[in-house]
Amino acid sequence: MAKAALSFVSLLSFVSLVVAAPAHQRRAACSNGRSASNDACCVWFDVLDDIQESLFDGGECGEEVHESLRLTFHDAIGFSPALTSQGQFGGGGADGSIIKFSDIETDFPANNGVDEIVELQKPLALKHNVSFGDFIQFAGAVGVSNCANGPRLQFLAGRPDATEASPNFLVPEPSDPVDSILARMGDAGFSPDEVIALLASHSVAAQDTIDPSIAGSPFDSTPSQFDSQFFVETLLKGTAFPGNGSNRGEVEAHWLVNSGSNQTLFLLATLVRLALGSHSSVSKPDTINSRFEAAMAKMAILGQDASKLVDCSEVIPVASNTNVKPPTLPAGKTQDDIEASCSIEAFPTLTADAGPATTVARVPAS
Ligand code: HEM
Ligand SMILES: *[C@@H]1O[C@H](CO)[C@@H](O)[C@H](O)[C@H]1NC(C)=O
Ligand SMILES: *[C@@H]1O[C@H](CO)[C@@H](O)[C@H](O)[C@H]1NC(C)=O
Ligand SMILES: *[C@@H]1O[C@H](CO)[C@@H](O)[C@H](O)[C@H]1NC(C)=O
Repeated sequence: MAKAALSFVSLLSFVSLVVAAPAHQRRAACSNGRSASNDACCVWFDVLDDIQESLFDGGECGEEVHESLRLTFHDAIGFSPALTSQGQFGGGGADGSIIKFSDIETDFPANNGVDEIVELQKPLALKHNVSFGDFIQFAGAVGVSNCANGPRLQFLAGRPDATEASPNFLVPEPSDPVDSILARMGDAGFSPDEVIALLASHSVAAQDTIDPSIAGSPFDSTPSQFDSQFFVETLLKGTAFPGNGSNRGEVEAHWLVNSGSNQTLFLLATLVRLALGSHSSVSKPDTINSRFEAAMAKMAILGQDASKLVDCSEVIPVASNTNVKPPTLPAGKTQDDIEASCSIEAFPTLTADAGPATTVARVPAS
């Protein structure tokens, strides 16, 4: 009797609470007059202010952004249902293990070069008392929003701390055969189409380790703009090795950049073999953003229970999309310089940039 009365009372007070403050109208007050749909999101405004200044040089799309975006992948892809099904630890996915167990994971060959950004991010995450897994995905999402035409990535918060380092050999390397890369990505849950979408990240990317003699060389000619230019330039016929010659994982590149890693072959072979619709991403730049956003939403929660995470996407800035340069052929190139295309869809007709043919390839292929 008393029990029933009590629960009636608590039901009543629950109802009145709900009536008095419907969840959808309640906004948590955050710093600097901002508000969020959930209390748990407020801290991310503070992290946002901090990293834009202290990590991204005042909101630029520079080296730390590129490295932070790469880190989202190198943390998350440490996730293998195949290993788990063999009774081994398959990795915790997007769990921050690459920072928490950095002494182990930064030694993995495929993680060559990530130690720098790991060291920069770690104290910032500790300072704001957020998990490394959350911080990595947040920094990547904020970072890429600094790039012209950047995607707006979903950001869910609440990843628990990693419990164990990722196993080695789960991060693909440019010298891996296409089939292995696709199989590894497939194990983590990505279709080849989604892999291509994720590679749009290489439009705001540079290499330091494939050929250290030209460290910092970008993968395409518009490295601070998120776009399809990477695909166009990657599909150009190779004419020379950039830098000082052939290094592991490199193939002959075209006129400019160092996307003459095996990713060139990887991308070409994938397109040819699977006749993917990647070309529509070249002709319709908006398509690549939405495909990238969808694939990244999946990647950012690999190994996580999404039902336990809070959606704080509202904290992620919207990229500027003024003065966006549409994809073009480099000056001096014609449609005939595009190598291999899929049989289903013709390569879109692009105009070439004006001016003399550009080439910075330093050493001709022998
Ligand atoms: C799937 C196969 C992939 C391969 C083989 C690959 C390979 C590479 C290589 C070799 C580099 C150059 C690293 C260096 O020398 O500094 C690089 C850079 C980069 N990668 Fe990937 N990658 C892959 C997928 C991805 C994905 C899915 C993302 C998505 C977030 C990504 C984002 C980046 C970024 C942003 C950089 C530039 C880093 C910088 O400029 O410091 N990559 N990748
Ligand atoms: C840090 O966060 C954890 C939970 O995420 C909390 O239990 C702890 O009290 C926080 N520490 C500080 C110093 O705020
Ligand atoms: C990548 O290059 C290496 C040699 O550097 C070669 O053995 C390998 O087969 C290439 N991968 C692809 C996908 O062509
Ligand atoms: C290119 O440079 C790297 C280091 O910068 C060196 O290890 C490699 O031997 C060089 N290759 C050639 C062909 O000079």
